[in-house]
Amino acid sequence: MINMSTAAANRQYFDAITDTYDSKPFFVKVNQVVTDDLRNRLDWIGIPFANTGSSSHAQSVRQLDYACGTGLMSRVFGPYVTETRGIDVSPNMVASYNARARAAGLSAFTINAVVGDLFDTQNPSPTGAEWDGFDLVTASFAFHHFEDVVHAAKSLKDRLRPGGVLMINDFLEGGDLKADEKGEPIEGTEGTWAAHHHHGHEHGKKEHGVHHHQAAQVDEPGWDRAKMAASVVVPSFTVEAVRKFFTEAGLVDVDVVMMDKRVYVEIAGQKLWRTILFARGRRPAEARSEL
Ligand SMILES: C[S@@+](CC[C@H](N)C(=O)[O-])C[C@H]1O[C@@H](n2cnc3c(N)ncnc32)[C@H](O)[C@@H]1O
Repeated sequence: MINMSTAAANRQYFDAITDTYDSKPFFVKVNQVVTDDLRNRLDWIGIPFANTGSSSHAQSVRQLDYACGTGLMSRVFGPYVTETRGIDVSPNMVASYNARARAAGLSAFTINAVVGDLFDTQNPSPTGAEWDGFDLVTASFAFHHFEDVVHAAKSLKDRLRPGGVLMINDFLEGGDLKADEKGEPIEGTEGTWAAHHHHGHEHGKKEHGVHHHQAAQVDEPGWDRAKMAASVVVPSFTVEAVRKFFTEAGLVDVDVVMMDKRVYVEIAGQKLWRTILFARGRRPAEARSEL
């Protein structure tokens, strides 16, 4: 058996699916509901944004979109920030991200992504002032791909200016409903249904005894379930688990909220209605001594 790191599995898996990643109809819809929801919650995020017309209007707002993929979070916040930087472990995702930004007529100074992995303990990259001191760091549908969520949250917190905010979204554990062949939700099937790769270590959550084989299967050419599963560490998080790893990472002012409606997704070969959660936490305004 090949012993590949989770980051390497992500690189390989997401490199292979970049071209179709956000053109799938279900993903277009997910993008739209996430965009609408977050733009209605700018105040909740808790930093002064640009171009909002409010009194706390900021001149310069720098966003880091970590695990940016093709740039969902960069597009969500693009109108309200002045500079966007993306990092992803997948070169194809980065190429697609940059191609989209250039096609939209935006310069590399305004928005640019690079290949990197901030969680690599031997060689975290990228480094340098351009990649530091952000007002906002986002990581969308990404934490379920990370081996060590406390280390991830800490590494992202370290890229914030004091007082800056980390905002993530992911799926709520127990927030799935199975869908039938037509994609209609099946009432009474609440649970945790997304398949994932079992790892040896815990994420501060109890084992949930999941059966992966019952939801409707999506039969797609080019869709490699094993590669998908290898890229995922856990399928979802409880609100308490997110609150805990944000707090352990040294973030304050932590809040976790859920979207009130489920979204339809096709994931790991399954059709599901899933619940999205959003979490934010702030890097303490006062510089603290290293623990
Ligand atoms: C499900 S996609 C989400 C992409 C985008 N944020 C979005 O919401 O559409 C997860 C992304 O995380 C990236 N990724 C996984 N592990 C990573 C790591 N350790 N460092 C950087 N990116 C990573 C993958 O390459 C992939 O593009």
